[in-house]
Amino acid sequence: MGVSFADYLCAKYPLDERSLNRPVYRQLTATLAGRQSLRCLDVGTGNGAMLKRLLECLDVPQLALTGLDQQAGLLNDAASALEQALQQQGYAVAPTPQGLTGRRGDKCVEVELVNAVLTDFSALPGSFDLITAHAFMDIVPLQPSLRRFADWLAPGGLFYATLNYDGDTALFPLYRDAVFEQWLLACYDESMEQRRVDGLATGGRRCGRRLHAELLAMGFTVPAYGSSDWHITPVNGAYQDADDVCLRALLDFMRAEAEAARFDAAALRQWHAVRLQQIETAQLGMIIHQLDLLAAKSGAQSTGFHIP
Ligand SMILES: C[S@@+](CC[C@H](N)C(=O)[O-])C[C@H]1O[C@@H](n2cnc3c(N)ncnc32)[C@H](O)[C@@H]1O
Repeated sequence: MGVSFADYLCAKYPLDERSLNRPVYRQLTATLAGRQSLRCLDVGTGNGAMLKRLLECLDVPQLALTGLDQQAGLLNDAASALEQALQQQGYAVAPTPQGLTGRRGDKCVEVELVNAVLTDFSALPGSFDLITAHAFMDIVPLQPSLRRFADWLAPGGLFYATLNYDGDTALFPLYRDAVFEQWLLACYDESMEQRRVDGLATGGRRCGRRLHAELLAMGFTVPAYGSSDWHITPVNGAYQDADDVCLRALLDFMRAEAEAARFDAAALRQWHAVRLQQIETAQLGMIIHQLDLLAAKSGAQSTGFHIP
């Protein structure tokens, strides 16, 4: 049976923790150190993974966290996860019409969860000090999204975009029909290039480097960036955390794209069976290239970049 999207998001949380680029992350936390209040928006929040992370890494007396996602079911999971995280930190938690509030002494965390697509969400100019986008920018058009973020950010506000796919997936050990798998991976990457939202291309398979270029072109500064590759490889014959679940989900995504592109059904079934079997014996490895970027808002003008 396939892995549900919600289970996939849960399984990749520890993998993401291991993979986030530490110097970029430290630059974020160092820049925000000492703040008395902070208003954060996490776009494409899913089950609230990044909000949970912010809760753990930011020591801010007045913290407002807004999570935006188009899937209501995932936002319910986010509410539960954040309630639990707040309680674990000793906050008294109460529900609010939009989410929940946590209080502990003179500290207050307000969580708002918004069920909407990005283009339907509106906020006053300068409403946020930090916008985060985790594993999200490859599935939305870059320029219009960045224009929105620039508008919503306060002067000097930060944009922390993490786990941006950047165009390389490698499987280990090499498949016996290496050419078949090469085509399959190319098809997987191409499906990201073909994706359209409101008729516009999205960050796609080279999201990381495109995002870097667009941010600079729109007048953001980029104080830190670096790779956040997923190393989903066995260590001493065993997978770390829930990596086997991530591998199963990723094989499913690849197979679905190959089916849509009408790959030979028998060859595809065979490939999937071999790769699944290699998960059972903890032999399959996957390395996926991704980038993290920390950007700061300054002046802002857009361009039109094309990175092949
Ligand atoms: C790959 S998941 C990442 C979820 C989460 N950030 C994480 O990494 O754990 C992308 C999320 O973005 C949401 N999403 C995709 N397109 C969206 C849009 N245009 N507006 C709002 N949410 C969107 C999906 O529902 C999904 O939860």
